Amino acid sequence: MCAKTSETDLSYQSLLAGNKTFIEKSLSEDPQYFDKLAKGQKPPVLWIGCADSRVPANQITNTPPGEVFVHRNIANMVIHSDMNMLSVLDYAVNVLEVKHVIVTGHYGCGGVAAAMTNQQFGLIDNWLRHIKDVYRLHAAELDAIEDEAQRANRFVEFNVMENVYNLCKTSIVQNAWAKGRQLGVHGWVYSIETGVITDLKLSTYDNAKMAEVFRFK
Ligand code: CO
Repeated sequence: MCAKTSETDLSYQSLLAGNKTFIEKSLSEDPQYFDKLAKGQKPPVLWIGCADSRVPANQITNTPPGEVFVHRNIANMVIHSDMNMLSVLDYAVNVLEVKHVIVTGHYGCGGVAAAMTNQQFGLIDNWLRHIKDVYRLHAAELDAIEDEAQRANRFVEFNVMENVYNLCKTSIVQNAWAKGRQLGVHGWVYSIETGVITDLKLSTYDNAKMAEVFRFK
C-alpha cells in the first residue's frame, strides 16, 4: 500500500491552475488557438536537449507549441542503442520531415559535471559513461584546463560536438543525406546564467566532414 501523500505539499496542483491560465490566455489571444493546433503538427525543428528543468526548449527560443519537436534526456545525449531517441529521430526526420535537428547542451549541466568525477551515482553511471567517453576523446585539451568550472564548460561544448557527430552517424540521418535531403544538424549551448544560446558552428548538411567509415552509400 502506498504511503499517504503529504497534504501540505500541494505544489503539483499549481500546475493544474497554471493550465487553466494557459487556456484562458491562449483563447483570449486567438479564439481558434486550440482548433488550429488540433489539426496537426509540422514542426521544422527537432530539438535534442537536456532534461534539466531550467532548459525548456520552447520558452528559451520563444517558440509556440507546434514549432519544435522535442526529445530530452540527461545531458542531451545521442546514444545509438537508445530506442527512445532513435524513434523520435526517425519520426521527426521521416514522417514530420523536419529541416533541422539541433543538439542543445547547457553550461552547468549536472550530468556532465558528474561524468567529470570519479564518484559513483548508481544506475545513472551507465548513462554517464557515454559522457566519460567524450572526455577520453578530448582528454588532452580538457586536462590542460586548470580551472574546474572552465574545464566543465569546455566539456559541455565537447559533449555537444560529439553528440552532433553521433547524430550524423545514425542510419536515419545518413539515409536522409543519401536521398539528397538538405537536413541540417546543429550544435548549440545555452547559458542558464545569461539566457544566451551560442551556436557552436558545427552545422552540417551532408557527409563532407564525416569519417569515411560512417558513410552510407
Ligand atoms: Co544538463
